[in-house]
Amino acid sequence: MAKHWKALLAAGSLALAVSQAHAEDQQLIKRGEYLAIAGDCGACHTEAGKAPFSGGHAIASPLGTIFSTNITPSKTAGIGQYSEQQFADALRKGVRGDGSQLYPAMPYTAYAKLTDEDVAALYAYFMQGVQPVDIQPEKTALPFPFNLRFSMAAWNLLFMDSKPFQPDEKQSEEWNRGAYLVQGLTHCSTCHTPRNFLMAEQQDKNLQGASLGTWFAPDITAAALQGKPHWTREMLAQYLATGHASNGATAGGPMLEAIDKSFSRMTAEDRQAIATYLLPQDSATAEPAQANRWTLVRGDDTPQAVLSEGAQIYRNNCASCHNLTGEGLNGLPALQNHPVLNKPNADNVAMAVLQGVWPEKGQGMIGFAGQLNDHQIAALTNYVMQDIGHSKVQISEERVKSLRAGGDASPLMLVSRIGMAAAGFIVVLGLFWLGFRRKNKR
Ligand code: HEC
Ligand code: HEC
Ligand code: HEC
Repeated sequence: MAKHWKALLAAGSLALAVSQAHAEDQQLIKRGEYLAIAGDCGACHTEAGKAPFSGGHAIASPLGTIFSTNITPSKTAGIGQYSEQQFADALRKGVRGDGSQLYPAMPYTAYAKLTDEDVAALYAYFMQGVQPVDIQPEKTALPFPFNLRFSMAAWNLLFMDSKPFQPDEKQSEEWNRGAYLVQGLTHCSTCHTPRNFLMAEQQDKNLQGASLGTWFAPDITAAALQGKPHWTREMLAQYLATGHASNGATAGGPMLEAIDKSFSRMTAEDRQAIATYLLPQDSATAEPAQANRWTLVRGDDTPQAVLSEGAQIYRNNCASCHNLTGEGLNGLPALQNHPVLNKPNADNVAMAVLQGVWPEKGQGMIGFAGQLNDHQIAALTNYVMQDIGHSKVQISEERVKSLRAGGDASPLMLVSRIGMAAAGFIVVLGLFWLGFRRKNKR
């Protein structure tokens, strides 16, 4: 009888241990899922309308299109064969399971800061929390010499800072959490830090603003955020949560996408930590942007002929939502004092006009690429910058044309062309040599 009880007890505690281990696994997977959201893995590895993380998302790079890979646990098409070590190396060193180098379109230079614990949680999630998908996405084929993946090893040697994250003992825990997130997982620098001609981030210009070819990711260093219009920690946290801030900012383009998919789904504590890191000294609360709700389009009988071309286009296309003088209308955003008008270039105004602004929640703005030509968009943008934003910054018709086409080609393409020319030259030399040998043999 006693034996029987003991066996039951043992079985019971075993079941308890098993369910405890199971609960721990589940917790690790949940944690990994959160980290995958914060790291916005889906931005590049999930194609709209396709299975999560099955890859195939086309990323335009100055060198040509790079396709993201399938990172579901499929053993044939994904990373199902990856050991935790191989997964860690892909994330932190940019080395794939087969030992070849990844292109830095995968932000491993930022993920290099991830702790072992976070990598383990991400691994648990991708192996156990994601559905395997056995479909191989389109393969990346860059032109010579960039198709030689081993050349990335040299690039890493030159530009990669693989030091793990170093907390700063003098700063608060919250600041350090923010530093860890900004430098690593949320990879703010991949957009906000300018790059050198080899596409590496310029460390001495960290977060000082960069063009993504089309949209411009502005300077978000404390010095810039404390300028005009000014940001407090509270506004930054608001902006990361909703895409709107009480200083009048609204987010568009890739920032809006990152907010919708990633930052808005992070915890309020993590967003607060990011704000604390970006603004180590909180700015004083500024006077709130004036409330623009429920104002009406002001009557205006200026004859059309007196107005500049830009003003006319503005009246006909924009005033119904942003009001005649840009002070906003019925809860739609004001352009007066909007931070986007206070930038070193007018690219984002022109981009908003071309593509529109499409938040997941709330009112959006249609794009005008179909209705307005480059000349009209330049005239309109210059009117908005000058007459509504009181800015001296102007945009040219050529720039609008380039933005419409997806941005300028990088000087690196020249390297490719030189590379092609060199390769062609070598092939021609080789053919001569072959011909020469044949002749001699005869
Ligand atoms: C900005 C875009 C981007 C983001 C964000 C991103 N990746 Fe990637 N990732 C890529 C691209 C592009 C590749 C393929 C690069 C190549 O072909 O060299 C890749 C490759 C990989 C690989 C190698 C897979 C293989 O065998 O080819 C892994 C693993 C991976 N990513 C995991 C992740 C995880 C986990 C996250 C989030 C923490 C993430 N990625 C976020 C763009 C991204
Ligand atoms: C995918 C590229 C991308 C990533 C990643 C990104 N940003 Fe941005 N960010 C942008 C772009 C583009 C804009 C301009 C948006 C606009 O004008 O509507 C912007 C605008 C901003 C602004 C508004 C600044 C101003 O003066 O108007 C802040 C603040 C900001 N980002 C903070 C961050 C932080 C913090 C992170 C990381 C947690 C981050 N961004 C990650 C592209 C990015
Ligand atoms: C249907 C209403 C509507 C019309 C018409 C409209 N907008 Fe907008 N616009 C919006 C809304 C709504 C937002 C903000 C979306 C959000 O909350 O993120 C916005 C945002 C913007 C922004 C900020 C983009 C950024 O970088 O964050 C600019 C600049 C802008 N509009 C300019 C214009 C101009 C110029 C026109 C005329 C060609 C125009 N809008 C027409 C509704 C409109």
